[in-house]
Amino acid sequence: TPIRLADYAPPAWVAEHVDLTFDLAPRGARVRARIRFVKGPGEAAGGPLRLDGQKLRLLSAAVDGTDALPSITVDEEGLTLAPADNAPLPDAFTWEAEVEIDPEANTELEGLYLSNGVYCTQCEAEGFRKITYFPDRPDVMATYAVRIEAPTSIPVLLSNGEPGATGPLPGDRHFAEWTDPWPKPSYLFALVAGELVAHTDAFTTASGRPVALAIHVRPGDEDRCAYAMDALKRSMRWDETEYGREYDLSVFNIVAVDDFNMGAMENKGLNVFNSKYVLASPETATDRDYELIEGIIAHEYFHNWTGNRITCRDWFQLCLKEGLTVFRDQQFSADMRSEAVQRIDQVKMLRARQFREDAGPLAHPVRPEEFIEINNFYTATVYEKGAELIRMLRLIVGAETYRAALDLYFDRHDGQACTIEDWIAVFEDASGRDLTRFRLWYAQAGTPRVTVSEGWVEDAPGQGGRYTLTLRQETPSTPGQPLKKPVPIPVAFGLLGADGRELIEPGVLELDDTERCWSFELPERPVPSLLRGFSAPVILERRSSEAERAFLLAHDRDPFNRWEAARALALEVMMGAASADAFAEALLPAITDASLDPAFRALLLTLPGEDEIARETWSRGRPADPDAIHAAAKAARKALAEALEPELRGLYEAMETPGPYTPEAGDAGRRALRAAALGLLARLPVGAGMAEAQCGAANMSDRLPALAALLASGSPAADAALDAFAADWRHDPLVMDKWRMLQATASRPDTLARVKALSEAPDFPWKTPNRFRSLVAAFAQNPCAFHQADGSGYRFLADWLIRLDPVNPQTAARVAGAFETWRRYDAKRQKLIRAELSRIAATEGLSRDMAEIVSRMLDA
Ligand code: ARG
Ligand code: ZN
Repeated sequence: TPIRLADYAPPAWVAEHVDLTFDLAPRGARVRARIRFVKGPGEAAGGPLRLDGQKLRLLSAAVDGTDALPSITVDEEGLTLAPADNAPLPDAFTWEAEVEIDPEANTELEGLYLSNGVYCTQCEAEGFRKITYFPDRPDVMATYAVRIEAPTSIPVLLSNGEPGATGPLPGDRHFAEWTDPWPKPSYLFALVAGELVAHTDAFTTASGRPVALAIHVRPGDEDRCAYAMDALKRSMRWDETEYGREYDLSVFNIVAVDDFNMGAMENKGLNVFNSKYVLASPETATDRDYELIEGIIAHEYFHNWTGNRITCRDWFQLCLKEGLTVFRDQQFSADMRSEAVQRIDQVKMLRARQFREDAGPLAHPVRPEEFIEINNFYTATVYEKGAELIRMLRLIVGAETYRAALDLYFDRHDGQACTIEDWIAVFEDASGRDLTRFRLWYAQAGTPRVTVSEGWVEDAPGQGGRYTLTLRQETPSTPGQPLKKPVPIPVAFGLLGADGRELIEPGVLELDDTERCWSFELPERPVPSLLRGFSAPVILERRSSEAERAFLLAHDRDPFNRWEAARALALEVMMGAASADAFAEALLPAITDASLDPAFRALLLTLPGEDEIARETWSRGRPADPDAIHAAAKAARKALAEALEPELRGLYEAMETPGPYTPEAGDAGRRALRAAALGLLARLPVGAGMAEAQCGAANMSDRLPALAALLASGSPAADAALDAFAADWRHDPLVMDKWRMLQATASRPDTLARVKALSEAPDFPWKTPNRFRSLVAAFAQNPCAFHQADGSGYRFLADWLIRLDPVNPQTAARVAGAFETWRRYDAKRQKLIRAELSRIAATEGLSRDMAEIVSRMLDA
């Protein structure tokens, strides 16, 4: 049964303070809790106390020190403590309970589990209830004191907040205590214990408070932490200068673990990371890995204010912390690297994942109104579209008012669990604007389509005239939301003259109704540059000629729209509506323009992927044919390579990075441009040899794209290069993930057979999410192999999902999203996919996660 936002009720009881004692053991860990409860604010205040609890063995319980309890009933989901005739619940009381849990058996990676011998926790969203009985909801905020007892063979014992006493215990055991002075919801609780080594550093906050920084990793990994540490210090400084936010404890700990369902987790003072987003060395990590590490370290750190100090009232408000924190990490990355390149990458990701979600059966509003399993709502819509809404708010009120609104937010709501209404209210108060209609962005699913029509009336020949621009919006219906209202859409724009100059001061048009019209007196008919910087998450539809696109690619001063013009041209080429030669001609001046950032030029040279073409085909009203798309994409790449061969070779030579590898954005951009050139050249006979030679590169940023290019070239040397790579990296699971992913995403005729063989290898550790994703999820991202006409790709994925679901429902349900695009394809493929979804749905003992995802995909 779904949980509904409309049913929210404040808690009957709130916990004020929590004391926890852990006695760690793999199979029978003991957790003793002492929790101070007081009456809550709601109508039900003082009524029965409901505590969530799952997979707990309750050993003892007491209220105010006596086990003469009020009535207590335990069920699968928790327990209820109700006043009994002889024992009413007092106005405030202390609950004590001891439970036993089994970290070793915990393969779901939620609650307390063991990862490669390291004890760690993941509590967001509802994992704390697998550690002890508790009102496991974010509007219950308490201070915590934690004591961890463990064998001395587990030297490092960490939890949230400030370190306290440590010392030996009888029988080769020891303990450590931690106290967290900042009230927090249970989802921010964390504990880590293991044989770890620390990479340490120090930071002094703007007001002079010293902070001890540490990144804890498994022995042997300590020399791969320097970049993450550097990113952390830059994040801490940036939040001070840009948002006035200082860190608020004397220690900040990060731990890298190998088994993790997501990227990372912002537990107070103790961030836990998927090791993929911490560990990096030039030999093992690509430029993209470094960039992701920087962004995710920043993201989790920024949560300290946007998420932890101010948290969410309930899980429907998830975007309150996630959308805002994504937006903040995007701003940070834009400041650290190239703003234009960052923006283009964000939009590529938004379109590939969020637009895809919004157009399919899993579409939901940025603030959903109901869910069955909250883990299914950590989505591109909540995160990425959530960030876009904040970007729009900032554009609408202006940067200064945005900063004032954020100051007000921190001021007004510090220490609280808040809602989107609270968030919008600070913007209304800071700006004096009525943002009632803007709220619709949070409530309505679906991507608005904006159509453009233009008019030009000449005053007199050669005298200029009146230009009119009409924008119209429409949002297609989404599951459960057949009718949509117009939303306010800020459209950043400029009007260009034939020489490329701006004819008027660039600005923002607010399309705040279904249709709006603007007119301008201009000396000549302009070429409009609309939705600059991708100022709103919409699909802009404007009929445009190849010549006009080439003009914008050459002249627009907005780098995003220059790239957008190139992308539109590339799509036409790949969909067979324009010639590769004309595209090459338009591209040529930009890609060889030495004054342009190489990273930006690399983006111009990177053609849209096959999934994007499938989406585009379907949105133009035709079923997508993955084989035809693949063939067309291949032909387009080859034709472009032929047309640009000398220039691509020139770039390949010119973009060599001298000196030792540094992850710095300038060098990374040169490598990206070089890799883009190589990726195209590999379609020509000359390229295979170049790729093969580069496979011997010492750094992974050069080696991996070379191997990918060699695979794409179809060269017989590819297998030997793959073997050599595996021989070098057999001992390194993170690097072997790349090796597997390359093969799973390769467009070779026997990809499925190869992937099957890899997945059946006895040493394939599929229960570790990174490994599963590197092979099975990566395969499902390979349009041609996954969408084979006989359905064998679909069957392969479904078999694996059925196998993973009982072990790790969260990761299984997430990967199942690969089926969300089924409506794009022909009737035969649709039928095959639906049959696999039905087979999953009929599986006995299916998890709540998977049952919800699959039924939403089938129902739509
Ligand atoms: N809050 C984490 C982050 O965005 C992600 C946690 C994901 N947890 C989950 N149960 N899906 O940084
Ligand atoms: Zn987050």
